[in-house]
Amino acid sequence: MAELKYISGFGNECASEDPRCPGALPEGQNNPQVCPYNLYAEQLSGSAFTCPRSSNKRSWLYRILPSVSHKPFESIDQGHVTHNWDEVDPDPNQLRWKPFEIPKASQKKVDFVSGLHTLCGAGDIRSNNGLAVHIFLCNTSMGNRCFYSSDGDFLIVPQKGKLLIYTEFGKMLVQPNEICVIQRGMRFSIDVFEETRGYILEVYGVHFELPDLGPIGANGLANPRDFLIPVAWYEDHQVPGGYTVINKYQGKLFSAKQDVSPFNVVAWHGNYTPYKYNLENFMVINSVAFDHADPSIFTVLTAKSVRPGVAIADFVIFPPRWGVADKTFRPPYYHRNCMSEFMGLIKGHYEAKQGGFLPGGGSLHSPMTPHGPDADCFEKASKAKLAPERIADGTMAFMFESSLSMAVTKWGLKTSNCLDENYYKCWEPLKSHFTPNSRHPAGTN
Ligand SMILES: [Fe+2]
Repeated sequence: MAELKYISGFGNECASEDPRCPGALPEGQNNPQVCPYNLYAEQLSGSAFTCPRSSNKRSWLYRILPSVSHKPFESIDQGHVTHNWDEVDPDPNQLRWKPFEIPKASQKKVDFVSGLHTLCGAGDIRSNNGLAVHIFLCNTSMGNRCFYSSDGDFLIVPQKGKLLIYTEFGKMLVQPNEICVIQRGMRFSIDVFEETRGYILEVYGVHFELPDLGPIGANGLANPRDFLIPVAWYEDHQVPGGYTVINKYQGKLFSAKQDVSPFNVVAWHGNYTPYKYNLENFMVINSVAFDHADPSIFTVLTAKSVRPGVAIADFVIFPPRWGVADKTFRPPYYHRNCMSEFMGLIKGHYEAKQGGFLPGGGSLHSPMTPHGPDADCFEKASKAKLAPERIADGTMAFMFESSLSMAVTKWGLKTSNCLDENYYKCWEPLKSHFTPNSRHPAGTN
């Protein structure tokens, strides 16, 4: 596979032409009477026309045929995609899943779309307020099938196997430890190369942004220049009646047939594009004296709600870094949070749990549900010599943190058969160390 090219920057106004058709972008206007190379002009709007300029998103696509060239959409099997948050009764317990099982290619061919499984979520698609967490488990490329969500943006976190993603804007290769965002309405098709697994955070009605940095200043965390946008690439691929466009619309799946590949955009310009990001590029900021900063310091991207400082969802990572805090219990603190915390693990092992939370699995700590280090971790960290130490080398855990109280689907609680019934036991050995007659027990400060 020839190395793919990208444009760098977050949210920029970009322009790209497939080099096979130089000058494909109209000069000085968006919608000429006749476009260069006799292409069709099509606008893809990612925000209301009247949004403030800072949040106004749209791109112009110059394509061989407009997207409207298709047969009617028809309802198809939902598989395990759902937005029914009342399938099963709510469960406030700490939940943990073993690695979600990937179907064997030798038994059943499953592509990215048929391998989508909704795990949890909240809110309402039709009022553009909410989110869903999906797990994808697949072993086959999509071939002459593409997908788009009318409902929200997909933040895709591959955990096992790389993804070659064809989009209307060009191609992206996304490997584990990278993420990509494919925004609402953008069509894409995914090639996979092995049994492949990952996580998706879908947010309805809002787009991901870089978090504000406040006193941190102009630099740090995920730097804008490290986000990569594909360059224009087209195929004039005729598949008479044989190309399938799958649409997730109001939470349900529909498909329509068309005669051509949708990846027929010869040139595009605009600021509404897919993009990818390598988590290795995250500039970690943390305590260098004592105590913990809250984990919001690890936010890569945020999808803001209309309430200031409150996110529909944040994408947060726990990357390799130095731990240097003096006189401090260094693992994450025990806490109860008004937010929902879904966690996943891309590789390695998570610092607050020695076992049980494995790559390709997950956990959900719901609003005000207590959690924190397991007993073993507490004992070790309470006695550890506080030298500078590397934390999380070779690992990458992440969190989808939401202000909404998420429901778990029937697949998540039952059908997946991956729920770890023994999760609560990791805290059972926690015992009281209370010494009422001694404020400074031996060996502590
Ligand atoms: Fe937490």
